[in-house]
Amino acid sequence: MAASDQRKIIPVADPAALAQAAADRVLARISAHNGRVAICLTGGSSPKRLYQLLANEPYRSKIPWDRVHWFIGDERFVPPSDSRNNMKMAREAFLDQCAPAANIHPIPTDTDPGECASRYANELKLFYGADRLEAARPLFDLVLMGVGPDGHTASIFPGYPAQAETERWVTGVPQAHVEPLVPRVTLTFPVLASCREMLFEVAGADKRAILTRVFGEESLPANLARSTGETVWLVDKAALPENVR
Ligand code: 6PG
Repeated sequence: MAASDQRKIIPVADPAALAQAAADRVLARISAHNGRVAICLTGGSSPKRLYQLLANEPYRSKIPWDRVHWFIGDERFVPPSDSRNNMKMAREAFLDQCAPAANIHPIPTDTDPGECASRYANELKLFYGADRLEAARPLFDLVLMGVGPDGHTASIFPGYPAQAETERWVTGVPQAHVEPLVPRVTLTFPVLASCREMLFEVAGADKRAILTRVFGEESLPANLARSTGETVWLVDKAALPENVR
């Protein structure tokens, strides 16, 4: 399935404006149709503010929680109660207060990364209703993403086998490239791409150097990740490289 090369960069003032712009886009994607909606969340610290906004007005009462399903793009291989667990952060920030338990789809971390990856792939395939992705019918309405200091996104690290994976939907990553140095489980590029919108959130001066490389077209995972629909980057002023101002 070919992902579109187009990437739209939207500059915003600061982390508060970034979270608000992201929340508006989440709501717009949810409101775009009346059926079942699938959103793929991301880990790291960047989306926390967005998640907290969704649990509060004016967003909370506008979200039809019964028909929205929440997945996650990657997980650190630690128990669900560990503070480094990505889904734990999302649960605490909004899901446990707002979403029906059956609509929360965490990546399991109870056996080993490879086995948990294949269980999650099966869960995604069951939800999608097929084991091959069709271009005309994306798996997700929205996929949230972040970028790490080495240019990784989800848990697809530069030069790691997961970067070249085209068959498997989800894969185990035995060793991380950056902190936290625990094994990971990650959705692969073709599965993350199967969405109406892929939305990156990037804020802070410490992200500017890696964004300069990503937008400079280096072959880094965060640059290679594209949606078959729209790929949008929300970037705050402090993170925005000079050459894209
Ligand atoms: C993870 C992530 C990872 C994250 C980036 C950005 O599990 O660590 O999903 O891809 O999105 O590393 O992290 P920050 O938002 O903390 O900068």
